[in-house]
Amino acid sequence: MSKSWNKRTQAVHGGIRRSQYSEVSEAIFLTQGFVYDNAEQAEARFIQAGDDEFIYARYGNPTVRMFEERIAALEGAEDGFATASGMAAVNGALCAMLQAGDHVVSARALFGSCLYILENILTRYGVEVTFVDGTDLEQWKAALRPDTKAVFFESMSNPTLEVIDIEAVSELAHAVGATVVVDNVFSTPVFSRAIEQGADVVIYSATKHIDGQGRALGGIILGTRDFIRGTVEPYLKHTGGALSPFNAWVMLKGLETMSLRVNAQADSALKIAEALEGHSALERLLYPGLKTHAQNALVQSQLGGKGGTVLSLDIRGGKDGAFAFLNALTIPVISNNLGDAKSIATHPATTTHQRLSDDQRTALGITPGLIRLSVGLEDSEDLIADLQAALAASQS
Ligand SMILES: Cc1ncc(COP(=O)(O)O)c(C=O)c1O
Repeated sequence: MSKSWNKRTQAVHGGIRRSQYSEVSEAIFLTQGFVYDNAEQAEARFIQAGDDEFIYARYGNPTVRMFEERIAALEGAEDGFATASGMAAVNGALCAMLQAGDHVVSARALFGSCLYILENILTRYGVEVTFVDGTDLEQWKAALRPDTKAVFFESMSNPTLEVIDIEAVSELAHAVGATVVVDNVFSTPVFSRAIEQGADVVIYSATKHIDGQGRALGGIILGTRDFIRGTVEPYLKHTGGALSPFNAWVMLKGLETMSLRVNAQADSALKIAEALEGHSALERLLYPGLKTHAQNALVQSQLGGKGGTVLSLDIRGGKDGAFAFLNALTIPVISNNLGDAKSIATHPATTTHQRLSDDQRTALGITPGLIRLSVGLEDSEDLIADLQAALAASQS
């Protein structure tokens, strides 16, 4: 496999394994187990399985392995472990490396379930977590300690799209010996250079842009071979967070078209943001790809200028305004995934971030009027017309 290929080539050919039939499209090895030629071979494989030797699908499977190797190649990581969902990846990566007494520093602006793991699960097992404003390097500096084992953040936060400086935070974290764990969902594997920029561990919910068509759950943890095989695999193979071979196949096929989809969706998101910026029905429009966005300089250096496929709209009139807007949409569907070919509108305060208190939501900028819009593959002119009509309806 050529390591010098660019991302688009890796996304099509990376990790391919062909059976004796030399099929073009990747085979689905829908099997949980593997047969050994004899008892000695079984014993030897349990002592040390080779790269192309499998034992049980909770540990690994050829279709899953193709997905792991393909995404590792395009992300520039040494290895990956695929998981049943994005949350299994976040939980697996953190639980595999942490133990009671460890300290973690995390950005505060997180997807509700990520926050739950940091705030409610890790702390239950004796891990101390300090939350900071991830955009403020002084807060990271003040929170990091010699016993800080890991830092965690979403490189672009859900749903307020704060962009975190991977290079600067990694430098601070590495100075105290902490491992940098980045949930990179909103940045997408297409625009990411997270490992090059200093991240040690990169996590994706494959449910989003990698599938990209709303079909299957999945996740991936990417990092060094030592971390993946020495730390993550022992934890996940015994606790059972493996990706199913069928879902791995869906993700493999998703990777082949991901770059075309995500680039088209990001271009459309920018057009929509430019068309709606300053609209009288909006309190705020958040899109990091806009030149007027406070962190646009970081978007230029960290993401090659692409602001991602999601924008957030704060509708005047609070929850009533937001609901009137949602109910007037005719193209985007009301749902809660993102990165899909279909545009999806979400009201975080009553769905993905409902569990938080009013004070927590206020601190994160999740106002009652906020709508997260994941831009799909529809014609951007149609989307703009539909969004403008729904904005007008929201104020009537
Ligand atoms: C930033 C972020 N991380 C993780 C996840 C979880 O992914 P999954 O739904 O595949 O478990 C999500 C899902 O919305 C997300 O937005």
